[in-house]
Amino acid sequence: MRKSKHIIAVVILIIISTVVLDALFLFMFQRPAQASTQATIIDNFTNIHFAVQAFLFSLIMVLVLYSVVVFRRKPGEEEEYGAHVEGNTALEITWTILPVIAVVIFGVYAIFILNEILAPQPDEIVVEVNARQWSWSFSYPELDNKVSDELVLLVNQPVVLEMQTEDVIHNFWVTEFRVKQDLLPGSMEVLRFTPTEVGDYRVRCAEICGLQHATMRAPVRVVDQATWDAFQAEMLAQPKIGDLTAVERGELWSQQFGCLGCHSVDGAPGAGPTWLGVYGREETLADGTTITVDDVYLHDSILDPNAVIVEGFNPNIMPANFADRFAEKEAEVMQAEGLEIGIVEDLIEYIKTLQEDTNAN
Ligand code: CUA
Repeated sequence: MRKSKHIIAVVILIIISTVVLDALFLFMFQRPAQASTQATIIDNFTNIHFAVQAFLFSLIMVLVLYSVVVFRRKPGEEEEYGAHVEGNTALEITWTILPVIAVVIFGVYAIFILNEILAPQPDEIVVEVNARQWSWSFSYPELDNKVSDELVLLVNQPVVLEMQTEDVIHNFWVTEFRVKQDLLPGSMEVLRFTPTEVGDYRVRCAEICGLQHATMRAPVRVVDQATWDAFQAEMLAQPKIGDLTAVERGELWSQQFGCLGCHSVDGAPGAGPTWLGVYGREETLADGTTITVDDVYLHDSILDPNAVIVEGFNPNIMPANFADRFAEKEAEVMQAEGLEIGIVEDLIEYIKTLQEDTNAN
């Protein structure tokens, strides 16, 4: 076969192999739907990577395999070795320069893309994200700092999340938005994106953060203008702390302080005992003694969770810093509404209402 025929054959094989491999990559690394401007940018970048990788892999493997198969020693060929090759300077320079150029191009391209993804938008709205073991809450500075346990966003409205953790490292990750960000203790982390598709999503924690890490999720809703207006009105209509009864406040705290991440109110099992019917219940402790759950027991258990452990549960699971966090919130309420409240007492009042019979319907 003439030399030009070999070249044509190799080129055709490289093209076929590139197309097949690229399709295989796209099939193997299927991604969730794109639901933010960042998602489109990042996916396009990834797709270019796939194509270039498919081509470079094909270029090398086709040449190697073609040579092995076509130029192998055939029956009747007597020489033991092929021609001695000292090297090929032009070829060596080419295979050094080409990858360098490819890497530099990708590097520079990545800088542009990163800037594009992180760029502040002129009309972005702020949502404060608070994470703790093991739940999320979202507060809206533009809506009187009202707190929600789901993240509601207006479609096509750029958003900047100002995120803080109350304990260990967590990570905010919504796969459809592609972007993710660690939340580090003691600092505020920022994450920007623009949701582009109305729909229901889910934020999940992407940093191993303890026993209930896998359940540390919260709903994310991207909504149209009408739903957004209704949400805003609903948030703003939420009563002031002073308008709530102790039980209603207790329910609010149970959401805001993330109690419900571990304690169910419907009897479902969790990292901590369910609150349903817990008040007045006789509990067996880890040391075999029994006690009746009353105000004093609940008070002590919330503020010093390791003092007494109920049989079947583990110590050092519940954060031991609630006394400080409650004091901070109580001071906030005092400042905002001139109202003196006791968060532990509110929680106990709320827990008292969670009895089997009253929840039967
Ligand atoms: Cu928080 Cu994993």
